[in-house]
This record gives sequence, structure tokens and C-alpha cells, in this order.
Amino acid sequence: MIGAGSSGIAAAKALHARGIPFDCFDKSDRVGGNWVFGNSNGMSSCYRSLHINTSRKRMEYSDFPMPESYPQFPHHTHIAAYFDAYVDHFGLRESITFKTGVEHARKDGDWVVTLDTGEERRYDALLVANGHHWDARWPEPAFPGADEFAGVQLHSHDYKGEDATFFRDKRVVVLGMGNSAMDIAVEASFSASHVYLAARRGAHVIPKYLFGRPLDQYAASARIPFRVRRNVLRAMLRVAVGDMERYGLPKPDHEFGGAHPTVSDDILSRIAHGEIAPKPNIASLTENTVRFSDGSEVDADIVVYCTGYRVTFPFFDERFIAAPDNDLPLFRRVFHPGIDNVFFIGLLQPLGATMPLAEAQSEWVCDHLQGRYRLPPRKHMLADMERERTAMRRRYVTSKRHTMQVDYDDYMFDLNRERKRGASRA
Ligand SMILES: Cc1cc2nc3c(=O)[nH]c(=O)nc-3n(C[C@H](O)[C@H](O)[C@H](O)COP(=O)(O)OP(=O)(O)OC[C@H]3O[C@@H](n4cnc5c(N)ncnc54)[C@H](O)[C@@H]3O)c2cc1C
Ligand SMILES: NC(=O)c1ccc[n+]([C@@H]2O[C@H](COP(=O)([O-])OP(=O)(O)OC[C@H]3O[C@@H](n4cnc5c(N)ncnc54)[C@H](OP(=O)(O)O)[C@@H]3O)[C@@H](O)[C@H]2O)c1
Repeated sequence: MIGAGSSGIAAAKALHARGIPFDCFDKSDRVGGNWVFGNSNGMSSCYRSLHINTSRKRMEYSDFPMPESYPQFPHHTHIAAYFDAYVDHFGLRESITFKTGVEHARKDGDWVVTLDTGEERRYDALLVANGHHWDARWPEPAFPGADEFAGVQLHSHDYKGEDATFFRDKRVVVLGMGNSAMDIAVEASFSASHVYLAARRGAHVIPKYLFGRPLDQYAASARIPFRVRRNVLRAMLRVAVGDMERYGLPKPDHEFGGAHPTVSDDILSRIAHGEIAPKPNIASLTENTVRFSDGSEVDADIVVYCTGYRVTFPFFDERFIAAPDNDLPLFRRVFHPGIDNVFFIGLLQPLGATMPLAEAQSEWVCDHLQGRYRLPPRKHMLADMERERTAMRRRYVTSKRHTMQVDYDDYMFDLNRERKRGASRA
């Protein structure tokens, strides 16, 4: 297994519980991946102030609740401690080899795995849980004039929030309308002299709480059609929040639910306070200014590109397995239709949290490894994948961030149904 982040440890737990022998390798000196602030692997995108934006009840593993003392949206230190406790509770630590990266993985009958120690090992199966929010995607191509800009340009991956004076009295442009942009623009707005939030597309910003309850805890049975659920939620938000244009944000070019959720309790209030000024996309930079696509121009000291991440697998030859434009089609986001015994854990973007889905995926993979689940014929898998992708493309705006979207409850429902079908095939 590659990786002992929240996805890898869920898989380790499942394999361990079934008595399936395995090795898990992680580059880091600890578990938790992205949630370890200042992780020694250099891959964490966590900043000092980060809190989860999926509520703890949504995020916790099914058999290991988060402590009741935790707030609804805990700090990253809580989350990292929770993953540590999970590993100790289930006795998994011994199975993980820390400070050891997987450099290369290829198929030669077995899986042949080369570690960064130079050692080569052979395995029957490979679980890939290397995360997909660590390889920064900068604007492509770079904006004209970016190399002349005299101020600081950084990607949100490299923003750590450790230096409290970083934004102080600076003129800051934050680019993007995802959750990194929301958090970082808000944070900057408390010390910068000016903050501009630039976006090429508007978003339906949703709050963490609605009517006194975490929004993601409203029941969302997969038996109720998506359209109905969406319309109910949209009506609730229309009452509670209203249109984005009222706050000076661009009108989203897509329906509510047509983009990965942008969650923020604070951005609208900071805009309403005049502490953040919405702007359209960046068009170009000069030595000291940023020009936007509407022709307006502002003086700037710092530009933060919150432009998302690339999905990469540096240990696979690119012609073997890769995700160009973040796209790696898989059967129900786990099984590769053309390569046996490689399983992807946590390689999805859920409405809802990743962890319980990684847990369910891991149980499913264990079923398969133990011969209790049999895949459908390849042609059925390909047809199923195509159906799923067509539905995703129809619903979501075209973007490299919308290549692996799933709805938590629907995904879980379908996965359980498929497990049962595969069990009878087996
Ligand atoms: C700022 C931010 C906030 C987020 N907030 C939420 C949230 O609130 N809720 C939510 O559900 N999701 C959130 N996410 C999504 C995030 O991807 C998941 O929370 C979670 O980190 C996914 O876990 P993972 O184990 O798949 O990947 P990671 O946490 O990235 O862990 C991957 C692990 O694999 C190891 N690894 C990678 N490559 C190798 C290699 N070659 N050899 C050995 N080890 C390797 C790494 O060292 C790491 O430990 C957030 C993402 C970001 C960037
Ligand atoms: N508090 C939290 O829990 C928290 C905080 C941060 C991040 N996260 C999670 O981390 C993941 C990554 O989030 P993210 O916000 O870093 O990335 P993201 O969701 O991929 O958003 C990237 C944003 O940048 C825009 N963008 C990309 N390339 C661009 C370009 N060349 N020019 C202009 N705009 C461009 C995208 O616009 P388009 O839509 O047009 O492509 C989008 O608005 C998500 O799962 C998110 O939920 C969670």
C-alpha cells in the first residue's frame, strides 16, 4: 500500500481486520498525510488556521467516532490526532513503514515495487492511497507578465500562515473560488491593506451551518432523486443566503450543485464589510500591478494562486497509469478496468467527506482479494464508467476539478449494492 493518510489507514484497518498480510509505505514519519501541519513529507497543503469543512459526523470512520469534545468543524490538529488514535486503536502502526517512499511500481506478473531505499519487493496486489491534493496546479499557461511581477507569487499549497506579518499592510490578490481561496482571502483580510478575490467563474458559496445545524448533516437519502434534494437545498439557501450578486460576487455560470461545493461562513461577511473586493479573472501582471479581465488594474504585493491540484502518480510510468487533466477513469473510482490488482483508495471528490468512503472502498477491495466479490465483465465495467462520466459531465461545469465527483450518500448506496451483486457473481 502506498500512503498512510486518512485513505491509507482505512485500507490498513480493513486488511488487518481480515488477516490479509500487507506492507504500507509512507514517505512521512507519521500517519495523516494532508492533515499533518508541516508534514515531514513536504506534501501537506495544510495551513495553520485550517479547519475541516465537512462536519465531524460526516468525516469520522464508521467504527471510530471522533471524541464528543471535538467541535463540529475541528481544527487540523484535532483531525491529525484522531488519525493517530485510529491507528493505535486498531493496532496498525507496526504495519506501516515510515520515512519510506515508493519510487516505482510496475507489473511483471506480480507487482514489483521499488522503494526509495533501493529495495525491490514483489506483491500480489497494490493499493494506491497517495492523495490528490499535494501537487500544486499553477495557472496554465502562466499569466502574461507573471515573470516580471516584483512581488510575491505563491500557490495555496505553499501558504502555511506561520508568519503573522505575511499579509500585514500588503495589497493581496487571491485567485480562485474554491475552498482554499475562501479561507486564504478571509485570513488575509484581517491584516492586509487590500484584498482582491479574483475568479474566472462565480460559485454558489454555502455556509457550514444552516438553521442551527451543520449543512452536511441534513438527511440526504440516495432514494430521493438528486434534483429534488438539490431543489430543497437551493430553496433553503435562497432564504438564508440569497443570490451571490447581492454581495458583489459574479453570478455563477452554472446551476446550484454544478460545481464542487465552496463552503465559507466568513467570505460573504468580509465582502459585506468591504474588506475583500471581488474581481474577475486575472488578465496579466506588470512589475507592480495586476490587471483583470474587465480592464481594471490594482497595485499588488502578493498574488496567491488557489488554483487547485494535479492528480499525479510519480511512481507509475506515465504511459502505464496517469491522469491527464486529472482524469483517471476507474470502475466506481476504485478498480482499473484494464490492469488487475491495482486499487485506488480515496481518489474521489465527494459532496461529503472522503474518510468513510475510503473505508467502504477498502472493505470492498478486501472482499475482492478474498474472492468474495467478483468484478462484472470488462465490457459492463466500461459501460458503467461511461454512464457515470456522462452524468458527471452533464451535471458539473467543465473543469479539471470536476473529474471524480461523487455524492456521498449515492456513492455509498451504489457501492453496497455493487458489493452484493459481485458477491453473488463470486
Ligand atoms: C486544504 C485542504 C482541506 C481539506 N479539507 C477537507 C475536509 O474538510 N473534508 C474532507 O473530506 N476532505 C478535505 N480535503 C481533501 C483531502 O484530500 C482529504 O481530507 C484527505 O487528506 C485525503 O486523504 P488521503 O489519504 O487520500 O491523501 P493524503 O492525506 O494526501 O495522504 C497521502 C499519503 O500518501 C503518502 N505518499 C504519497 N506518495 C507516496 C509515495 N510515493 N510513497 C510513500 N508514501 C507516499 C503521503 O506521505 C501521505 O501521507 C482537504 C484538502 C485540502 C488540500
Ligand atoms: N477548509 C477546508 O476544509 C478546505 C480548505 C481548502 C481546500 N479544501 C479542499 O481541498 C480541495 C482543493 O481545493 P482548492 O480550493 O485548493 O482547489 P479547487 O477546488 O480545485 O479550486 C480551484 C479554483 O481555482 C480556479 N482556477 C483553476 N485554474 C485557474 C486558472 N488558470 N485561472 C483562473 N482560475 C483558475 C478554479 O476555477 P474553475 O472552477 O473555473 O476551474 C477554482 O475556482 C477541495 O477538495 C477543497 O474542498 C478544503
